[in-house]
Amino acid sequence: MKEYLNNIIFKTISQIIGERDQQAFVIGGFVRDKLLGRPSKDIDVVTIGSGIELATETASRLMKNPKVTTYRNFGTAMFRYRGVDVEFVGARRESYNRNSRKPVVENGTLEDDQRRRDFTINALAIDLHPDRFGQLVDPFDGLSDLRNGIIRTPLEPDTTYSDDPLRMLRAIRFANQLDFRIIDESLEAITRNKERIRIISMERVSEELNKIMLTDKPSIGIKLLQKTGLLEIVFPQLEALKGVDVVDGCKHKDNFYHTMEVLDNVCRNSDNLWLRWAALLHDIGKPATKKYIKGTGWTFHGHEYIGSKMVQGVFKNLKLPMNEKMKYVQKMVALHMRPIVLVEETVTDSAVRRLLFEAGDDIDDLMLLCDADITSKNPEKVSRYLDNYQLVRRKLVEVEEKDRVRNWQPPISGEVIIETFALPPCPAIGNIKSAIKDAILDGVIENNYEAAYQFMLQKGKELGLTPKV
Ligand code: CTP
Repeated sequence: MKEYLNNIIFKTISQIIGERDQQAFVIGGFVRDKLLGRPSKDIDVVTIGSGIELATETASRLMKNPKVTTYRNFGTAMFRYRGVDVEFVGARRESYNRNSRKPVVENGTLEDDQRRRDFTINALAIDLHPDRFGQLVDPFDGLSDLRNGIIRTPLEPDTTYSDDPLRMLRAIRFANQLDFRIIDESLEAITRNKERIRIISMERVSEELNKIMLTDKPSIGIKLLQKTGLLEIVFPQLEALKGVDVVDGCKHKDNFYHTMEVLDNVCRNSDNLWLRWAALLHDIGKPATKKYIKGTGWTFHGHEYIGSKMVQGVFKNLKLPMNEKMKYVQKMVALHMRPIVLVEETVTDSAVRRLLFEAGDDIDDLMLLCDADITSKNPEKVSRYLDNYQLVRRKLVEVEEKDRVRNWQPPISGEVIIETFALPPCPAIGNIKSAIKDAILDGVIENNYEAAYQFMLQKGKELGLTPKV
């Protein structure tokens, strides 16, 4: 394995431990990723003895003014060298406190340290001592699990998951990311221990969820979360999409599986995490709006509106950023049904203009979401619907070229209205402002200052206002 250690950091550590006849190993994600041929990121080094001391010595040999961050409570230390985070820890045996993830730490051997890690594929270590430089230390058969694509815990899985319940999500995330299979025994243990996930902070949960969302096919991970019962605990709104009701022999589609297809479809065409979230949440309002109407069948009237209102609650629960990313997802959810009506031959320019105005620069993402939302099993239908959306795209381009409303703001601001009529703050300002916007979007007046100004005067007159300037 020497070929993976062709790096000044490993050479320096090796030299130091050779001089002292100390033991140290590179372990965990770095080794796993190297063996899989994936880009490796950070380096974790475990030593028998003090991690802090070895970190300090290594850093001072590598750098003139080393900056080492130490966490004495955990016995760890790290520094950054040429963009790589290098973390050092003394080998530990750990037992965890049942109600938190804070481990009670005792010194241990390398094997103790490997045993307390999450998965066999993450417990692989490579020796850095000059006499054994590059030798793999693999007491739990991690290498064959890596070759066979298997997620397995070094210890009995109930212990590993209960010790640190975040690992249940990590198992699913790795299975998804690496296209590995979680062995049955482990999957059953996750199901048994699912309630323990409640002691993990939502920030850490959503960090794993986002990693799942960024894989090529996130439905794999999300279906595993559903199957093990974790989804119901961490993301009940998504779980609620599952199921099919039947009334008078009439059933609706299972919105959970439909959502999984839409999500995977979007992922084929976009790496944008937030567009992926929009796909995941596009039908989140369906359970709340579901109705069976005799003679008509199942309806989900207004689900896009209710759904967009639910986005904030979902983001809040999951501790996702409550900023412009959330607003973008809200907008996508709210608008995802709009392009469908633009398919009609008879659609007016004004309907197209309105959508362009509301979607702004996110219109292309919205169309990607709409394409993805076509999940018919009939290939002929799929291609017909996709063609329809190509037609909508052409209409959007035509109207945008003519009217430039994508990033448009109406030419008359609230201030102009206030000054013209010398108004105190009052609802008339907003009313006149939106009347001007509507008149331009509906093509009643031209999109320029003069036309808008005249229109404002006329609206003011209708409201009994006289211009003061
Ligand atoms: N680890 C663990 N239990 C956890 C987290 C981490 O046992 N809940 C161990 C694993 O051996 C892991 C190593 O600590 O390989 C480093 O963890 P981390 O950097 O979080 O993950 P990586 O495995 O490197 O993978 P990724 O960066 O994709 O999360």
